[in-house]
Amino acid sequence: MAQKVLITSALPYANGPLHFGHIAGAYLPGDCYARFQRLMGRQVLYICGSDEYGVAITLSADLAKRSPKQHVDEFHAVNKALFDRLHFSFDHYGRTTCPGHVQMTQSFFAALEKKGLIEEKTEDHLYSEAEKRFLADRYVVGTCPKCGFQEARGDECQRCASSYEATDLKNPRSKLTGSPLTLKPSLHLYLRFDRFKEQLQEWLKGKQWKENVVRFAESYVNDLRPRAITRDSDWGVPVPGYPGKVFYVWFDAPIGYISATQEWNSEKWKDYWLDPKTKLVQFIGKDNIPFHAVFFPAMLMGQDLPYKLPDEIPANEFLLLEGKQFSKSDGWTIDLADFFQRYTPDQARYALAANAPETADAEFSWKDFQMRCNAELLGKLGNFVNRVLVLMKGTVPHAGPLTEIDQQFLQKTDLLMTEGAAQFETFHLRKASQTLMELAQAGNGYFDAKKPWGKGADPSTTISCCIECIKNLALLASPIIPETAQKIWEMLGFTTQLASEHWDAVRKKQIPPGKVLPPPQLLFRKIEDTEIEEQISKLGKKMATPVTQPSQITFADFGKVDLRVAVVLEAEKVPKAKKLLKLTLDLGTEKRTVVSGIALAYEPEQLIGRKVILVANLLPATIMGIESQGMILAASHETGLELPRIDHLPAGSKVS
Ligand code: 2FM
Ligand code: ZN
Repeated sequence: MAQKVLITSALPYANGPLHFGHIAGAYLPGDCYARFQRLMGRQVLYICGSDEYGVAITLSADLAKRSPKQHVDEFHAVNKALFDRLHFSFDHYGRTTCPGHVQMTQSFFAALEKKGLIEEKTEDHLYSEAEKRFLADRYVVGTCPKCGFQEARGDECQRCASSYEATDLKNPRSKLTGSPLTLKPSLHLYLRFDRFKEQLQEWLKGKQWKENVVRFAESYVNDLRPRAITRDSDWGVPVPGYPGKVFYVWFDAPIGYISATQEWNSEKWKDYWLDPKTKLVQFIGKDNIPFHAVFFPAMLMGQDLPYKLPDEIPANEFLLLEGKQFSKSDGWTIDLADFFQRYTPDQARYALAANAPETADAEFSWKDFQMRCNAELLGKLGNFVNRVLVLMKGTVPHAGPLTEIDQQFLQKTDLLMTEGAAQFETFHLRKASQTLMELAQAGNGYFDAKKPWGKGADPSTTISCCIECIKNLALLASPIIPETAQKIWEMLGFTTQLASEHWDAVRKKQIPPGKVLPPPQLLFRKIEDTEIEEQISKLGKKMATPVTQPSQITFADFGKVDLRVAVVLEAEKVPKAKKLLKLTLDLGTEKRTVVSGIALAYEPEQLIGRKVILVANLLPATIMGIESQGMILAASHETGLELPRIDHLPAGSKVS
């Protein structure tokens, strides 16, 4: 029975488009590993999917002014399309909003609760009276308790890098509305991770993982405490018996691996997750280490079913873009739609594999991309395949007796294939990419040394040895650049899918002398300097934000909004809120006080006498202690904010 290998890549948040930095860390290494394991004849199941709950989602949806559901629907589709474009071989790409995930998460919780591992605790949390809800740390800004920076984030200070609880901030405010926050007690459920300390220590003993993974895991295990696994929110997996509470995203997300497997097959999922003989390999980025090496294993240990614990946790570092972190808002990114108009998925896969951030942060640079594509893929691999097949002129020759140089070349091929296989097996994707190029270069060196094109030379033996090398190149390349490997495979006259073959069988396969092969095609095109210069010049220039399609409403829905022209009578700054102005408006029949976030765009005195458009039937809200009786309309863009103009009609006029 073939070894079962269950492979996962961290479920990416569906809150924005993935970039090459993500792909190089937890994803491409996972896909290459899965493809290699399949070639080795193992029974592979490769699972991934979107992580769709948690504050990362709700905050990003709030900022985009749409519902979390609309938000995750869009980015689930966007990210899945990118994986498809890059020829990822997931057996299933799920999402944590799938129906089975609720039941799976709740059953995990029930098992932990039954064992007495859940306890209730009431603590003070930050509450927004204006928004009528508790705010998680990412929704909070305030004054750093360490350095006094006034715009510090809720979890850590971006100026002095201290980390703290949001409740430690002075003058805490809502990031979305600027309204002040108060402390209010709230009950939460805590998972007694501390009870797993010995079991985790025992399990971690002797693990041959990367040093940073083991070190991190051990330090977390030494200091295990109960952790809150619930949040006050309406977006998440509901906590049974606790209305208004959902599970913390890091409780439900790793269970998402299991529910996605169950969605793949409602019965067979157990053959993987509940069989001690399965090898579970979880590819992650380094920021996810504690959750995969400590907290999720503890959750698995606390179940009644005999869940598999991870056998391997290949955690990669980060990939930078030209020395800086990818940042869409700063334009420090690669427009992937444009990228794939010009370049192939295999060019991207190879350049990312060759720079995989395995032991330290690595970098994607356009010059390096050009070098990888031109000097390596085209200059070494493509060139070797092409020159051999062109010289062969269509028919596989009969080899004559092998000379020493032929034998040495074939031995070198064997050696590099063995090394490459070991590198794939041990998560050294970067080295496997180098080995691929070493093999292509060995082919070029041999071909040059033998000069089979020379006058009077008999090229048959040389070409025959080179064909053997090309077959091996296709095999070694297949996990990294599957489309190109398949093309080479077909140029050797095979009609099967190389990815479905067995490594050992391909190694032994003979290409029969006398066989007529299809005409060779070019595998790669040269990337010109001008293209690369153009790409570099785009860095740091912000792309226009795509206009997202809000959901449609009926005319009757729109008719519910009472829009009126109002005249600004008074305007003043709101103390301690640099974006807010307090306006007194004349509506023709009455006066209204409105707090508006336009202070960065308008000075109070510019507004006196100006006509604005007011949403007159909005429920009042208290913002910075002031009751705001409506909202004025303004257009916003990353470059600024602007009020619409009404010049002639009087206050009170209806806008429709
Ligand atoms: O860091 C992240 O992108 C998380 N969404 C990873 C979750 S991995 C797993 F637990 F689902
Ligand atoms: Zn600080």
